[in-house]
Amino acid sequence: MTKEKQQWGSRVGLILAMAGNAVGLGNFLRFPVQAVNNGGGAFIIPYLFCFLAMGIPLLWIEWSMGRFGGKHGNHSTPFILNTMSKRAMWKYIGVFGIFTNIGVAAYYCYIESWTLSYVFHSVARTFDGMSQSQVAQFFADYVDIGKSTMGIPYEAVVFYVICLALNTFILSRGLKGVEKVAKIGMPLLIIFGIVLAIRGLTLGTSGASIEVPNASAIDGLNFLWTPQFDSLANPKVWLAAAGQVFFTLSVGMGTIQCYASYLSSKDDVALNGVTSGFTNEFVEVVLGSSIVIPIAAGYLGLDWVKENAGFGMAFQTMPFLFEKWGAVLAVVAGVMWFGLLFFAGITSSLAMGTPWMGFMHDEFGWGRNKGALSFGLIILVLGLPTVFFFNQGVFDEYDYWAGTVSLVVFAMLETILFVWIFGMNKGWREINLGADLKLPVIYKYVMMVLTPVMLIAVFLASMFTPKDNDWKRAFSGDWVLDNSSIIKQITNAGLKEKLAAATDPVLISELQEKIMYINGARILLVGLFVAISVLVYIAHRNHQKQKHNL
Ligand code: PHE
Repeated sequence: MTKEKQQWGSRVGLILAMAGNAVGLGNFLRFPVQAVNNGGGAFIIPYLFCFLAMGIPLLWIEWSMGRFGGKHGNHSTPFILNTMSKRAMWKYIGVFGIFTNIGVAAYYCYIESWTLSYVFHSVARTFDGMSQSQVAQFFADYVDIGKSTMGIPYEAVVFYVICLALNTFILSRGLKGVEKVAKIGMPLLIIFGIVLAIRGLTLGTSGASIEVPNASAIDGLNFLWTPQFDSLANPKVWLAAAGQVFFTLSVGMGTIQCYASYLSSKDDVALNGVTSGFTNEFVEVVLGSSIVIPIAAGYLGLDWVKENAGFGMAFQTMPFLFEKWGAVLAVVAGVMWFGLLFFAGITSSLAMGTPWMGFMHDEFGWGRNKGALSFGLIILVLGLPTVFFFNQGVFDEYDYWAGTVSLVVFAMLETILFVWIFGMNKGWREINLGADLKLPVIYKYVMMVLTPVMLIAVFLASMFTPKDNDWKRAFSGDWVLDNSSIIKQITNAGLKEKLAAATDPVLISELQEKIMYINGARILLVGLFVAISVLVYIAHRNHQKQKHNL
């Protein structure tokens, strides 16, 4: 078994790859939606606070954990955690760091494949002359697999497979391939983003009159950036803010640890960590909020945006709005916007492939080709249900468990391990080793107390969210769980209530079907977790045998 040692080519390459990992569809599609759904200006303060109090510390923790594990020849979280604490349990907690990446990649690559298809349709002028509702219908048909959009049968499946093939191919080139894509994709993405943001912000009221007279792009910005302090008392907004910070920075996933494990032992983590974090925030807060919302608000009015905020919003509206710019600009803007999303997506989905590949390489000697191909196949098997049963809720189910709950759980546990078990003194030394940035000492205490306490609070609050977010009533002894709490989600309480109240036979069978698909999705996810745990167990046994033989 020959083991090839991989390393990052250059510091610029590393930073672009790490920034590419973080900058993703979350920045352009998820952030605006979260902001709109949580009251715009009400969202920003908790968001920035969570970034500083949890995001930045988690970046340092994960970067230094990864480099530490890499020193011992480990490139995925099960055995990275194992180098930090010998207790058996941590290896299995580390399973999250592979599980989440695969679970997220399965639905994330699906959105990524939409962007590919929309680049194609922008060039093919498919949206020419379509009304707003026709563009929205196009999207609805696209995700409704049985229907065809422009004569390509199973178009969504075709693009999904193309997208996976691309990812698999680049992954099979190893870190060098990832680095190259980041070096090309990231600068392009930023240029496209700036052009579109400038165009969006200078729309003025020129777009008005489609829906609302005198609506302007600036209304959208004001909505986002007028702070509303009363929201600080609303835990729902805090949960959403923390969730977005995790998702966008890719923390709590195991991805950063994997990338960082390919650093050499004295490479800086302090400055690199914040640089990639702040690059992500620039792209999210400046570019991410200056495109969809202002442009859509400029043409369709803020009320429309508030009502229609959702993951698909950019696909249902932007092609139509671009068409208002004339034929040439419509193509250019379409290619820029969906191209930007594609680069954002692929630099993230590649990152999701590396923990699996690193694990199989470390523990079972799998080479790059075998690692990449197996990743592609696993994603295909787990991802096709999200493609075929998108409307039945499989996609959302993956997003909820793998893309939301797991991050909080893993971020909380790894932080406890790092600051309380591995120990903050040792941890602080790790972070400062080879550092090109003098860290403010206050952060040592932030990490030791504030970060873990906030993480535990976020976890408990999501687990036991009280009905209607009425915390006062809950603390006065009347604690009824809300259907959005994790506990109630597990039991499908919300859907079951709807089912019990339904009288229309069509609705009843729809709901029953939905529950069935959701349970099916969960079986797949649990199966994935168990399968990875079994692999970790086998790897552990192999380690022990080797020790005996020595
Ligand atoms: N941070 C990425 C985004 O904002 C998502 C991601 C998750 C990337 C997990 C890598 C790993 O879209």
